[in-house]
Amino acid sequence: MCSIIGYSGIKNAAPILVRSLEKMEYRGYDSVGIAIKNDSMINVKKDIGKVSEVKNNLNLDKMSGTIGIGHTRWATHGKVSKKNAHPHYSNSGKIAIVHNGIIENFQQLKSELKLDGFKFESDTDTEVLVNLIQKNYDETSNIKETITKTISKLQGHYTFLVIFEDGTLAAVRFHEPLIIGVEKNSYYISSDVLGFIEKTDDAIYIDNENFVIINDHNLDIFDFKGNSIKPNITKVSKEFADVYKGDYAHFTLKEISEQPKTILQAGDDARIEEITERISSARNLYITGSGTSYNAARISKFLFSNFAKIKIEPIISSELPFSPDSIEEDSTLIAISQSGESADVLDAVRIAKKSNSKILSIINHPNSSLSQESDSVINLNCGPEIGVAATKSFTSQLVILYKITNKICNKCMNLDWDKVSQCISNVLKDDSNIKKLANEIKEITDIYVLGRGIHFPIAQEAALKLKELTYIHAEAIPAGELKHGPLALMDSNVYVIIINPDDETYQNTLNSANEIKARGAKIIGISNKNNEVYDFWIKIPDINEELYPLIEIIPIQLLSYYAALEKNTDPDYPRNLAKSVTVK
Ligand code: AGP
Ligand code: GLU
Repeated sequence: MCSIIGYSGIKNAAPILVRSLEKMEYRGYDSVGIAIKNDSMINVKKDIGKVSEVKNNLNLDKMSGTIGIGHTRWATHGKVSKKNAHPHYSNSGKIAIVHNGIIENFQQLKSELKLDGFKFESDTDTEVLVNLIQKNYDETSNIKETITKTISKLQGHYTFLVIFEDGTLAAVRFHEPLIIGVEKNSYYISSDVLGFIEKTDDAIYIDNENFVIINDHNLDIFDFKGNSIKPNITKVSKEFADVYKGDYAHFTLKEISEQPKTILQAGDDARIEEITERISSARNLYITGSGTSYNAARISKFLFSNFAKIKIEPIISSELPFSPDSIEEDSTLIAISQSGESADVLDAVRIAKKSNSKILSIINHPNSSLSQESDSVINLNCGPEIGVAATKSFTSQLVILYKITNKICNKCMNLDWDKVSQCISNVLKDDSNIKKLANEIKEITDIYVLGRGIHFPIAQEAALKLKELTYIHAEAIPAGELKHGPLALMDSNVYVIIINPDDETYQNTLNSANEIKARGAKIIGISNKNNEVYDFWIKIPDINEELYPLIEIIPIQLLSYYAALEKNTDPDYPRNLAKSVTVK
């Protein structure tokens, strides 16, 4: 959930680690720390705050030594505080750790270690882990044995890096990402290629249930049984090096603005062809994802049933463990994930595999864990998405789902992607009205988003964007459900966004808008057609009606972004959230 980085080589480690943490900060960002091994000991510096703040306050990048580890935390055990920040020392001070994930049985391990005399300063599961490592190292004096012995006791999902006082750096991967950048005389051990891509594009993707020991410029990889594994060096795609904001104030705005281009790059034809064949011959078809990716999954239900005449059942990934039998034997599961690392999605995939299902994935990170678990993968190709709120990845996911649908229905839709791209550009250019609206909604506490049919999942995605970026309570309502309850919420304090392009849902949704207006609420219409019921009209361009979902989400992304600015919140790093949710 956080980012971890290790360096072992001939250069000064601290500035390298700090730079890597800055690059990966979007993964988790409540506290920061690094540990550096110098000639005599391991030094740790850490505190709460952003990387740039902690770097300046503690002179993080001035520490000296050529071996080190670093961390940005996204707290799971113990509040956000200096004592809970990583790295953590073991009691002897001769071992330090950074850790991504959760040790589920930490309480039991902590009690056992206390009986052995170990003391704890933090509330974290991580400090328990480093002391378990110390105990095993004191007993074996052998790092490989220490690691195998330690992991045999652990439950949960974790990746961790440990430095020992003799200068050895060890890294363990269990269901959280771990990639090594390789340069002459240097190794960069990271949760993300962004941690080292500025230095090298030679990488070793460490397999799940493997660990690494680096000592004296030698790197050894082992599986959890201790068998040696041959390193396999591959090239990382350079597009993932493009992580600069350029002239944009924030990554979120940059990523929203890239959509006229990114929608044209989604999915290559050969993969669409292959996946379409697999879908057409599937016995039962399911689709899963979390958050924004799940909202895209829900769109597929409308596309597949209305155009491809295929049944598909969307399942929220985090819910599948509670109804695992809902996936029948020999089914096909489509998994959608920007990162390819969401723990809930990976779990859903593993459940589906138990019933012998095939896994087809739609992913932005081609070498992610999900990609390794899949029978076939199709890439979003939208470049790195750093803003925690998903924007361009959502529209790229939709494009792929449209393309698959159109292939199955023999081009029954007229998908003019250049026109879509042009329409998105027009919405982006014409944002003065949206800025005004952002100013108007900055003080409100509740906003509702209404849509019917295929526009309801867009309303859900709109509400998610508003929540994440503005912290306003935002709720999506299927327009037809209004009279079944939500109408009771409507009064003059409420703002309601109506997603209402001119298609078969138009008239009914307009009726809903009038019903709400009669109760005094303010109506924001997102439509290609104006109407007097709207207090605010956000115009979207005319396009083939089946393509409206791709256009109507853009003004809401912009509104959420500008309202975040009005409220002085950080749109790139919303509070309490992290980009890649690799813990459950
Ligand atoms: C989207 O704005 C969110 N930050 C979040 O809901 C996200 O979509 C979700 O965590 C899934 O991530 P993934 O696509 O990387 O699996
Ligand atoms: N469980 C650890 C903690 O709360 C690690 C969290 C993380 O992945 O950032 O400190």
